[in-house]
Amino acid sequence: MTVLTGSLPAAHPKAAGLTSDAPLIAAYEGRTPAHRPVWFMRQAGRSLPEYLAAREGTAMLDACLTPELASEITLQPVRRYGVDAAIFFSDIVVPMKVAGVGVEIAPGVGPVFDRPIRTMADVDALPDLGVAADRGAFDSGLDKIRQAVELTVAELGNTPLIGFAGAPFTLAAYMVEGKPSRDHLAARELMFTAPDVWDALTTWTATAAGLFLRAQVMAGASAVQLFDSWAGSLSVEDYVAHCAPGSALALNYVADLPVPRVHFAANGGHLLPAMADAGATVLGVDYRTPLDEANAMLGGRFPLQGNINPALLPAPADMLEAHVTDVLRRGAEAPGHVVNLGHGVPPHTNPDSLQRIVDLVHVNG
Ligand code: CP3
Repeated sequence: MTVLTGSLPAAHPKAAGLTSDAPLIAAYEGRTPAHRPVWFMRQAGRSLPEYLAAREGTAMLDACLTPELASEITLQPVRRYGVDAAIFFSDIVVPMKVAGVGVEIAPGVGPVFDRPIRTMADVDALPDLGVAADRGAFDSGLDKIRQAVELTVAELGNTPLIGFAGAPFTLAAYMVEGKPSRDHLAARELMFTAPDVWDALTTWTATAAGLFLRAQVMAGASAVQLFDSWAGSLSVEDYVAHCAPGSALALNYVADLPVPRVHFAANGGHLLPAMADAGATVLGVDYRTPLDEANAMLGGRFPLQGNINPALLPAPADMLEAHVTDVLRRGAEAPGHVVNLGHGVPPHTNPDSLQRIVDLVHVNG
């Protein structure tokens, strides 16, 4: 794996000291934060009326590639809730779209590709990504991302922006299936029937994800998160053999920069130690694995993020409060704890329940 040797621009919020002692960054780095930080996966999105108003009439991927709009949507939940981080409003398939792959997000469905990738000829026909900062077509296409990040961090001040990408396995699984699927069977079969095609495809998705992460960090993101939404469908053995190398390659694109690297897999409790070996500095924990158990599995070596059960968001206030208190107690055992949900905010969530969590964590955390 190539060793990159970059550094953040002097005006970057973390290099300039704006975000370096923010509660989120302190907790991610295993230092003591001023208060327990909290943010929510999918905090921007359909649960917010201001999001629905801003998105009216604009297709999802067009919104992601309109810098002013992407920035405004990123800022909405920070203004409303006072969360300790913004997560960049984009999507895991944006780097594919920027590279020129035919993909759209079908409302209520998810990413849909013009043609599934199944053979080496399909992989060979994918657009050339160039190398970091070569000003090729892909790198130039990422300028819209850089502009959106720059606009956002200019407004955020001391609140850190988290950049993100989809993990190579999740991205490759979408590309093999061509659309969302229940069990990702076509992708899991390809690993065994054509391992060379699988390796070539995940190297391509890892490169796209890695360059997407690096563009966000160099433009102002103070941390990154790799989302492996579907890795939970794999055994540890298959994850280590066929997916971890891709995640390590993607994370390596920012490993030379002083920003925390979070790795999250939905339903991935059994994968935590293997994910820890792929180059993350923080592990995101899904709601099925209690944080104290996750910490024990990892030998107490990693700050953790998570893991409020999203199903409790509409529950009576005292029930939700008892659950959050339990998450805080278990999370306190890790060397750092950032409160989050154990998966994304469901679209029908009442924003008041998220506000209640933020206030509770800031007072009691
Ligand atoms: O607030 C945030 O967390 C930041 C933005 C963000 C989005 N997608 C915006 C989005 C992030 C981090 C993602 C990641 C993402 N996208 C993942 C990984 C996380 C996870 O949930 O497991 C995945 C698998 C995707 C692919 C994807 N994009 C799906 C499955 C969907 C839902 C389709 C639907 O309509 O139900 C999307 C669309 C999408 N991405 C929306 C948002 C706000 C909804 C678009 C809309 O408003 O219609």
